[in-house]
Amino acid sequence: MLCIQAERTFTNLPPPFFDISQLKSSFASKGLNVKDLVVLSGGHTIGTSHCSSFSGRLYNFTGKGDMDPSLDSEYAVNLKKKCKPSDVNTLVEMDPGSFKTFDEEYYTLVAKRRGLFNSDAALLDDKETRDYVKLQATTQGYTFFKDFGVSMVKMGNIGVLRGGW
Ligand code: HEM
Repeated sequence: MLCIQAERTFTNLPPPFFDISQLKSSFASKGLNVKDLVVLSGGHTIGTSHCSSFSGRLYNFTGKGDMDPSLDSEYAVNLKKKCKPSDVNTLVEMDPGSFKTFDEEYYTLVAKRRGLFNSDAALLDDKETRDYVKLQATTQGYTFFKDFGVSMVKMGNIGVLRGGW
């Protein structure tokens, strides 16, 4: 479904364990700003993820068999039921309940510490990204669809002249 350029862009995104400064640097190196980061992360309103992309947060966050303290504990219990420690096959909905619907629900989840990846949770660690998450998580948000269109066009232009993400 995706064109070749879009596929290249997606395959070269940062890894899910990046923290906020790594994410900001990675986006900046492609000419994308902090707003683009928080807006485009909203793409996680749709789709699924393999357990292996986030199970480190559940079972071995600091290498001592512990859990990521920034993850909502009730949500973590549900994720642990779906994803056993070495499971690399199971798919989990990234925006549970509306993973086929493009909406602002992703931000409500992140605000409730239910973002699936470290990179999602990290959006609460920077004032600009946190403010955006909180704005979209409230009924006053309303700008997400428009913002997403603007940032997608910017991301779509990456590499057309400079060789890809
Ligand atoms: C901010 C940096 C990003 C990181 C670290 C990241 C990471 C990931 C990871 C780890 C997965 C799951 C892969 C798997 O285990 O199957 C995923 C899925 C996905 N991501 Fe991202 N992503 C990022 C940005 C984006 C952007 C910019 C978009 C689009 C605007 C996007 C859209 C998606 C979608 C739609 C899926 C689901 C794919 C499917 O259902 O097969 N992500 N992302």
